Amino acid sequence: MSKHDNKQPLPPKRSGLPVLGSAVSFGRDPYAFYEDVASHGDVVRFSMGSYDMVGVLHPDAIEDVLVENFDCFRKPDAAGGVDVLADGLLLADGEQWQSQRTRLQPMFYRERIETYAETMATYAAATADEWVAADGTIDLTEATSTYTLQVLGKTLFGVDTDEHRRAIRAGAEAILERSSQNPVSVDLPSWLPTPSNRRYRRGIDQLEGVVDDLIEQADEDGDDKDILSLLVTASAQEEDGPTESEIRSQLMTFLFAGHETSATALTWALYELGRKPSVADRLHSEVDDVLDGTTATLTDLPDLTYTEQVLRETLRRYPPAAAIFREADEDVTIGGFRVPEDTFVVLPQFHVHTDGRWWDNPDQFDPSRWDDISEPPGDRPEYSYFPFGGGPRHCIGMRFARMELKLALATIARRCRITHDHDTVPIEVGSTVHPGNAVRATVQRRD
Ligand code: HEM
Repeated sequence: MSKHDNKQPLPPKRSGLPVLGSAVSFGRDPYAFYEDVASHGDVVRFSMGSYDMVGVLHPDAIEDVLVENFDCFRKPDAAGGVDVLADGLLLADGEQWQSQRTRLQPMFYRERIETYAETMATYAAATADEWVAADGTIDLTEATSTYTLQVLGKTLFGVDTDEHRRAIRAGAEAILERSSQNPVSVDLPSWLPTPSNRRYRRGIDQLEGVVDDLIEQADEDGDDKDILSLLVTASAQEEDGPTESEIRSQLMTFLFAGHETSATALTWALYELGRKPSVADRLHSEVDDVLDGTTATLTDLPDLTYTEQVLRETLRRYPPAAAIFREADEDVTIGGFRVPEDTFVVLPQFHVHTDGRWWDNPDQFDPSRWDDISEPPGDRPEYSYFPFGGGPRHCIGMRFARMELKLALATIARRCRITHDHDTVPIEVGSTVHPGNAVRATVQRRD
């Protein structure tokens, strides 16, 4: 792809309803909607409310957007209407983003992440034991998010999040609801007292309360022992350190991005174990073989190959981030088509990960497709699989999430068996790919 060539044609257009554009079809069935978009080509124009969008469906063109021509795009200004995250790493842009990323990156180096392994596994063991002790069924979405929040709080914030759990969940749900609304409803100003705006404000107020408490507890002459003390110390000691509003936005970003996605992935993995006894049996036999005791450790990780396969397949079939959004900062060429400045560009993981060109029986949950452990397996194009995005803005928490999920899944599978009566659970696509209803499961102790 060249950066920009005036002679290139515009991408083919999928027509939608006047005013609403494609919002109605997307809302009805996001998978069918993108199938239809794909029938027009690999780079396709459509509109959603007042937004002109371009869906990019070919892995090579996706790689161009995320990696090769990274600097021709910015994060969308609308930010899904979630203003409180605007100054955090997920939504910041330009120099602000660059300096935040440089400051925070060392917190995510491999050696650092590895020091969290024991905490991650210890919480997983306690979680599994609690589930076993619970009489009756547990709600997997709720149970996994308790786990990922505990880990996040302890490792990256140095605090016990138990007392704040409800408030953080309320904030996360408000952010999810707001960012999942299609752009038509996001166009309504957030000060209008609509029921949705009131719900959003209530959730965000709770999250802001937690952030205030955390900042109050933080150690200003600390060091970089966790994100909280790193930011508060930099703010107190450096002239160009983060402002208070930036710290607040950053904490909210990490409290949200750092637990919701991993919890959703773990929920789907456990749901599939309860649905597919053959997958559960192979996983149980691996963990029985590899683990010395009943809790996974850092040194077990390389030998947990099937556990890794189950997780890779989970992130393929149910990519938690659903889709990546950019806005063209200038006129640019994508896949041979001219995309004008300010166009909204969508890279839908949930569609690409189930595109029959790259994946046989794409709707099937089948960890054995990863028996060839390369990522993605076989000779598929690299960006036929991109659960953590790519290029300079790839997920900063990728290593953290992968290790946390692997230790948790292995430890849980070693200690208990998950069963449930759900035939299928609807897959809902919003700002995450999440279960459309509660997944209730029974947990029995193994051995
Ligand atoms: C399975 C779990 C996770 C998935 C699938 C996931 C996915 C993603 C994706 C796709 C992006 C790129 C978004 C874009 O390019 O617009 C991203 C960015 C980000 N993620 Fe994650 N994530 C996960 C876990 C985490 C965790 C555990 C943390 C924090 C501890 C985290 C923090 C972030 C942040 C701060 C960004 C913005 C990075 C930047 O723009 O520089 N994520 N994530």
